[in-house]
Amino acid sequence: MQADLERILIPRAAIARRVHELAGEIARTYEGGEGDGLTLVTILSGSLIFLADLIRELPLRMKIGLITVSSYRGATTESKGSIILHELKVDVAGRHVLLIDDILDTGGTLRMVRERLAGSGALSIRTCVLLRKPSKAPPDLVADFVGFDIEDVFVVGYGLDYNDLYRNFPDIGVLRKELYTS
Ligand code: XMP
Repeated sequence: MQADLERILIPRAAIARRVHELAGEIARTYEGGEGDGLTLVTILSGSLIFLADLIRELPLRMKIGLITVSSYRGATTESKGSIILHELKVDVAGRHVLLIDDILDTGGTLRMVRERLAGSGALSIRTCVLLRKPSKAPPDLVADFVGFDIEDVFVVGYGLDYNDLYRNFPDIGVLRKELYTS
């Protein structure tokens, strides 16, 4: 796998440190009254490892809801729009929602899921992304918790994939350009 990477962008130790800090930020936000009735709505599949690590650092009573979205890249890295593959099955009416995603890139995925949740009766909706590309993320789409701001490169590992590969790579790395058509 490593041979397919141009370089490591974020090593596993740095990810673990930042996930621990993020959990602290999130816990401080919700530990008051909002802690009761928290649902983490997670966008799969890219967030699966981030979710698993984050929730084990969060000493809060919470429900987990999963929604599977494909950003429709096929064999390229360019998003052609997002579609829902598996709908959210938990009811978030009367709950505080923390929306978890792996990366805020063009923002299409997060915007689509946020808009669906807007009519759900949730008491509040905040967002948490592990990675954000500030050069591409639309200014009106603000994430409340951000792990790392990164440059505009296509990254894989720690749950993020290219064509469903590399999710199990423990660091976050930049995929070699010759492996994809952008
Ligand atoms: P958008 O553009 O909708 O992208 O904000 C969000 C979803 O697209 C995937 N994505 C990436 N996956 N490396 C990846 O492995 C990247 O650099 C990348 N950029 C976007 C990802 O699934 C994310 O949820």
